[in-house]
Amino acid sequence: QKDIISIADLSRDELELIVATAKDLKHNPQPELLKNKIVASCFFEASTRTRLSFETAVQRLGGSVIGFDSGGNTSLAQKGETLADSVKVISSYSDAFFMRHPQEGAARLAAEFASVPVINGGDGSNQHPTQTLLDLFTIYETQSSLQNLNIAFVGDLKYGRTVHSLAQALSLFNCNFYFISPQALAMPDYIIEELDEAGINYSTHESIEEVIDSLDILYMTRVQKERFDETEYQHMKSAFVLNGSMLSKVRDNLKILHPLPRVDEITTDVDDTPYAYYFQQAENGVYARQALLALVLSNQFQES
Ligand code: CP
Repeated sequence: QKDIISIADLSRDELELIVATAKDLKHNPQPELLKNKIVASCFFEASTRTRLSFETAVQRLGGSVIGFDSGGNTSLAQKGETLADSVKVISSYSDAFFMRHPQEGAARLAAEFASVPVINGGDGSNQHPTQTLLDLFTIYETQSSLQNLNIAFVGDLKYGRTVHSLAQALSLFNCNFYFISPQALAMPDYIIEELDEAGINYSTHESIEEVIDSLDILYMTRVQKERFDETEYQHMKSAFVLNGSMLSKVRDNLKILHPLPRVDEITTDVDDTPYAYYFQQAENGVYARQALLALVLSNQFQES
């Protein structure tokens, strides 16, 4: 059984297989692929896109979903049941277990107790591997390659779990990284050390304008309100804002991505430009998660 807890659980070949499978499923729907499969969707932290795209993915492949969202009236939330006991029981009802939890490491812990594959839908500020899969698919869809791209990551690079997983994955494809964040929200040391070890080119910048004209992908993120107290959040929240007037000299192939939700870091005039691709990116979550489920449930990955 293969758990998907961190993006590092997948090799470059496996990432490429997921992207190719997502492309295939987008163009050739398979409404019976997960017939008779039951997938548990357990969200201990709020989500719109991850949960709903995952549940859409299962249902459009002919499978069924059980589970709860972060308001769930569960025995774990209401009666003090441990995560370990909950996972043991829920995994005995299902063929795969998809979860989000506010604590780092919760998905790894769940995998120790589950009898079926566990897929991490985000654990605290740590990892969000399925977001990375849809990001990779979207980058491939828009650039026809994952190799040698110029990619800027903007915003909260410290607590933004999506950028941690994505930088790790793209480091397998020899991309150039530009990191743009307040100093207090810089990429964590462990990611920088991994990039150094892999010999990846990266640089840090104080404004989007410094690099925007050389980019293939501009990956915007929001400051993670839920990880700050209110005073700190107000200080950081509008540090970097992208607006339409900043796009006058960009490359034709530039695409702007954002894992969403956005607050005010991309003004709405950008939405109507040919560079905005964040809503298509969110839709691609269905195909990337379909691909992952189809491959996990047919045992097509090396065990972690
Ligand atoms: N991108 C993302 O994880 O969105 P949700 O928090 O809505 O799932």
